[in-house]
Amino acid sequence: MRLSGKKILLGVTGSIAAYKSAELTRLLIKEGAEIQVVMTKSAHDFVTPLTLGTLSKKPVFTEFSTPASGTWNNHVELGLWADAMLIAPASANTIAKIAAGYCDNLLLATYLSAKCRVFIAPAMDLDMFAHPTTTQNITRILSFGNCILGPESGELASGLKGAGRMVEPESIVEYLIKALSPDKELQGKKVLVSAGPTREAIDPVRFISNHSSGKMGVALAEEMQWRGAEVTLVMGPSVKAPSNGAIKLIPVVSAADMHAACMKIYADSDIAIMAAAVADFTPGNPADSKMKKTGNNLQIDLIPTTDILASMGNLKKDSQFLVGFALETDNELQNAVSKLERKNLDMIVLNSMKDSGAGFNSDTNKITIIEKNNQTTTPYDLKSKQEVATDIVDHLISCLRKS
Ligand code: PMT
Repeated sequence: MRLSGKKILLGVTGSIAAYKSAELTRLLIKEGAEIQVVMTKSAHDFVTPLTLGTLSKKPVFTEFSTPASGTWNNHVELGLWADAMLIAPASANTIAKIAAGYCDNLLLATYLSAKCRVFIAPAMDLDMFAHPTTTQNITRILSFGNCILGPESGELASGLKGAGRMVEPESIVEYLIKALSPDKELQGKKVLVSAGPTREAIDPVRFISNHSSGKMGVALAEEMQWRGAEVTLVMGPSVKAPSNGAIKLIPVVSAADMHAACMKIYADSDIAIMAAAVADFTPGNPADSKMKKTGNNLQIDLIPTTDILASMGNLKKDSQFLVGFALETDNELQNAVSKLERKNLDMIVLNSMKDSGAGFNSDTNKITIIEKNNQTTTPYDLKSKQEVATDIVDHLISCLRKS
């Protein structure tokens, strides 16, 4: 019973795939989960509350209150109760409402109140799924940190063939098991993650920096910790902080600070993942006091910073696994492979500023992973940074198993 003790809110919306919710409920219960089903009214046209209530062993909720028993179906309590919320199937209509922040039924109010991870399995006809509005809505709900499962391609209820089929219940359950009760594959491993930008002082009030928010590095640190690792996060000034107190956070400001902190920790680390956007240059002679306008042009002498990742690559022991990032705008693959080799890395994660929704600051990313040995390249779809972190850690673990 791999979901034993897990409380799952199952949201069911008006799509023909709702008939699969019965099987989904049965499988979740079989794995030991406690299920509370919340249906939209239109879902009732496709599967009955009696069916889902019988299978989940609890009355199903659709309205904000149940007049017969005089009870209020408290969406805030439901949202707080759950370890995870799964909306399967999620119709184009519900996806659009989630993207826009609508709250006109119990399922949406519960979604907005939920503090847990939310998994959404879209199901609709292929042209609805391919419509630019749906594509934009899915990108938007991904950026809220939701996890999108599928849809799959195949035969649809309309008789047409294409993308839009809800992921099969068995696959959804396997995905949830992995996400909610991960194997602690990294137990006993010490991991160093770098994140965020660095700031290079020009004078006491000005600096040179970049647009990194720290989101990618924080997601990686959280995922590594979730898989059992002891994680130290060296992070430049970022908009995002780890929510997990088990991660040891070392805040730094400049490239030199980050270099010093990383080198101290690296010697004792089994794995290092460098997601920080470190400045390549720093002012050679920062002024001690605020520089004044003179009306003339200003020349600042920039000197190269130490490449932290390359220093680590030079010192790398056989037992260590070193992962770098490459943020590119041109000749992406070629540049990433060159960094992989030059910096003696085991794996590099390429993200390109040319891909919309990828790279700096966004809540999503689109990556390609390149491995050292055979330089296999694995491209991934646009996903939330949390899911990208899961893909990177899965890939890293598969490399560790091979080595
Ligand atoms: O923080 P977010 O807003 O979530 O954005 C995430 C990200 C875009 C910053 C992240 O996904 C990313 O790509 N990080 C690396 C950015 C970068 O500086 O790439 P690069 O190609 O210039 O550097 C290559 C590698 O060398 C990186 O692992 C970098 O950390 C490292 N490096 C670079 C320069 C330097 N002086 N020392 C380094 O260690």
